Amino acid sequence: MILAIDQGTTGTTCLVVDGEGDLVGRGYREFSQHFPRPGWVEHDAAEIWEVTRRVALEACDDAGIAPADLQAIGITNQRETVCAWDPATGEPLHRAIVWQDRRTAAMCARLREAGHEQLIRERTGLVLDPYFSGTKIAWLLEHAPELRERAERGTAVFGTIDSWLLFRLTGEHVTDPSNASRTMLYGLEAGDWDDELCALLGVPLRALPEVRPSIGGFGTVRPGVLGDATCPVGGVAGDQQAALYGQACLDPGEGKNTYGTGSFVLLNAGDAPPAEHEGLLRTVGWQIGQRRMFAYEASVFATGAAVQWLRDGLGIISSAAETEPLADSLEGNDGVYLVPAFAGLGAPHWDPYARGTITGLTRGTTRAHLARATLEAIGFQTLDAVRAMESVAAQPLRVLKADGGATANRWLMRFQADLLGVPVVVPAIHETTALGAAFMAGVGVGRWNQREVTRTWRAATTYEPTMSRDRAEELHAGWRDAVGRSLGQAR
Ligand code: G3P
Repeated sequence: MILAIDQGTTGTTCLVVDGEGDLVGRGYREFSQHFPRPGWVEHDAAEIWEVTRRVALEACDDAGIAPADLQAIGITNQRETVCAWDPATGEPLHRAIVWQDRRTAAMCARLREAGHEQLIRERTGLVLDPYFSGTKIAWLLEHAPELRERAERGTAVFGTIDSWLLFRLTGEHVTDPSNASRTMLYGLEAGDWDDELCALLGVPLRALPEVRPSIGGFGTVRPGVLGDATCPVGGVAGDQQAALYGQACLDPGEGKNTYGTGSFVLLNAGDAPPAEHEGLLRTVGWQIGQRRMFAYEASVFATGAAVQWLRDGLGIISSAAETEPLADSLEGNDGVYLVPAFAGLGAPHWDPYARGTITGLTRGTTRAHLARATLEAIGFQTLDAVRAMESVAAQPLRVLKADGGATANRWLMRFQADLLGVPVVVPAIHETTALGAAFMAGVGVGRWNQREVTRTWRAATTYEPTMSRDRAEELHAGWRDAVGRSLGQAR
């Protein structure tokens, strides 16, 4: 029995997977989002830990097992989000700054003006954008009371959510390369923290976690922390990399899209750092032993988050599932486009100053139009990410492997296939991210070998395109026009 913890941006999912790779228990809970100022997004790290602990116990309960029956734990997580805590007490020292948070846009602009952009690109594979952890840590060091002195003295440490959960579970301050490669402090070639970048951002090395291979040993759960569990943590990876693994994209050229809070298209790029490519990120997929697998990534910041905004921000739907009949109730979009650039725009635009925009409103516009425009925006943003990815792929996309919550929305999946002009394939288990973490943990403790993972992947539904290419092009042109209006608004 393996417990997979998927600590996402809006909630924690836990799955219990048995020795055959079958799902036998699950749990899910959302937690609070804090928006203290426009463009700022924070989480309470203590709440994240508490919710995660409860969901893990609920998943064990659902599987009819005691935590003591667990043989391994795999962790996957929202990436880039930064926590700071006291290593003696495990108490958070500030709210976690979430990956969507834009407060360091001006800091990024200053780094760009000072001529550091190319160094960052080359060294880390990332673009200079507030999305990544490095400038968030620099912000905390500058603004949180006494944090700089404490970090230098060793009485404050930093980590992404994987590190935070690992610290609470095992007491060790560690991370894996897939998470480290999202910080802007990790050298992609060198495979460790980069002294020059740490110095540039003023981050003391001693405050960062030790980087260990994603598949292998991350310590053992301390007694009493998770009921009576005492098993090892055998696998850790950022959620998008775990989904790539869970979709069995183990070989170069294989890719997937995960529809979560955002959408992330990743392509396996082999076992050497790939060449730079405009508009795409280069990142570590996972590390097993000394071997690292790399990926290209096109990141879209707000897809599921836009549906959540319809529900919680506007209150025009009471559940995400309502968007499907609402979108379907219209013949077309009637010229209404919604660009959910709440946190700026990621690939391929990389504009931290873009903001949410709705175009084409008339007196006849209804909530159905907004629901449809939101689903269409998910489709268009994914289309743009896939097209950016195709520029590095050896061949054009023949099929899109999709996973994540929004794959349950059939209207969206059909629309996605129509826009792309290729089939969209959804696997039997939608929670591919958590499954990937379970697989990594199973491989990490020697329960499975990597190729067995590939054999468990099964397609459940295939959505074939039916729209004419002319119609898809026409719709895409309307989208591009709306995106143009959203750029640079917060500058
Ligand atoms: O990079 C951010 C990403 O890891 C968030 O994933 O699943 O919470 O949308 P998710």
